[in-house]
Amino acid sequence: MHTVKCFECGADVEDEFADACPRCGGILTIEMDLDAASGMRPADLRKKPIGVWRYAPFLPVDERNAISLLEGGTPLYHCKALGKKAGVKSLHVKYEGANPTGSFKDRGMTVGVSRALELGCKTVGCASTGNTSASLAAYAAKGDLKCVVLLPNGKVAAGKLAQAMFYGAKVVMVDGNFDDALNVVKTLSREGELYLLNSINPYRPEGQKTVAFEIVDQLDFDVPDRVILPVGNAANIWAVYKAFKEWKALGWVDKVPKLTGIQAAGSAPIVRAFQAGKRDFVPEEHPETVATAIRIGNPASGKKALQAIYDTNGYAESVTDEEIVAAQKLLGRTEGVGVEPASAASVAGLLKLVDTGVISKDERVVCICTGNVLKDPDTVMRSCEEILKAKPTAEDVKRVIAK
Ligand code: F0G
Repeated sequence: MHTVKCFECGADVEDEFADACPRCGGILTIEMDLDAASGMRPADLRKKPIGVWRYAPFLPVDERNAISLLEGGTPLYHCKALGKKAGVKSLHVKYEGANPTGSFKDRGMTVGVSRALELGCKTVGCASTGNTSASLAAYAAKGDLKCVVLLPNGKVAAGKLAQAMFYGAKVVMVDGNFDDALNVVKTLSREGELYLLNSINPYRPEGQKTVAFEIVDQLDFDVPDRVILPVGNAANIWAVYKAFKEWKALGWVDKVPKLTGIQAAGSAPIVRAFQAGKRDFVPEEHPETVATAIRIGNPASGKKALQAIYDTNGYAESVTDEEIVAAQKLLGRTEGVGVEPASAASVAGLLKLVDTGVISKDERVVCICTGNVLKDPDTVMRSCEEILKAKPTAEDVKRVIAK
């Protein structure tokens, strides 16, 4: 059982298709009834394989209706070498690139698309910087739903665009950025054209909570001191927060890690709000960054993100495009873990915050790396060494590799 509520005014929201509070316009959230789980022990969950649906008692959709591609269950890498370079007691990377469509979005989408089917919807849609559209297109295919995705023209990485097209979505490039596309898709949803599956749909973050459940599960309930993740539209940090709060309420964990959100310097409204000690933010009108996944100026869940950060004694920091690309390479070349630029922001943030003394050397840190390196091959090719060319002889190959 669960209730949809307004995050801002607390009102119960009955309209199953609302994308905001009918009373105050605030962002929605879900209050889970944890009674079903209260008689359980954490170990009971382990009867099922690791993955999103292991945590069904914490999800607001009947598992029997699940449209699933076996999402979640991603590796939690113990990155000893990188942890040493960063200068922290321990570092784990939660590798969300191993999800079915290569990003963490699949966790929310299995729940969101299952919900769409429960409601009898025929068409689903979203605005996206790329990953949400790739994920929605795949789950819509699996659920036999029509799918429409609105993308910021020219600003979506090649892998993500190819995926949305491949799974059969109607792909619409909008002249404008993500924030503009989200406004349009909200109007389409209100006109009944489609069921909206952006993360302002409160069912999405419920699925995304499972990344935090898995981290705790994989660490055998030894909760890390800090979790660092990239922030774009700002729902994922909220989802992680909500997960920890729910398990803390049940007494399954004894603390909530310091949640630390990282934005790109060119689109950092949450960081600026945090620096000013504010609980609301001023949108960035012209967001720009190489990390196109988080090129978002008006994060829809920004207020939720700020609560997650303040309430856990966490932090918000921005990193430059150069720092992002350097961290992406460092993670790949130290640990063999390939992530897209937005995901590398978490690692870039770790390095910066250890440097500035915000993160202390005795902390046990988890970085959530949200998407696969293959999502954005162009950025990778630009940042790597030139490809060598040789004649088809061993001698010539020896000549070029010796350089
Ligand atoms: N990392 C990646 C790889 C993303 O694709 C996104 C968001 C984020 C981090 C930020 O997560 O929005 O919950 O703060 N991508 C969305 C999309 C906006 O359309 O794919 P957030």
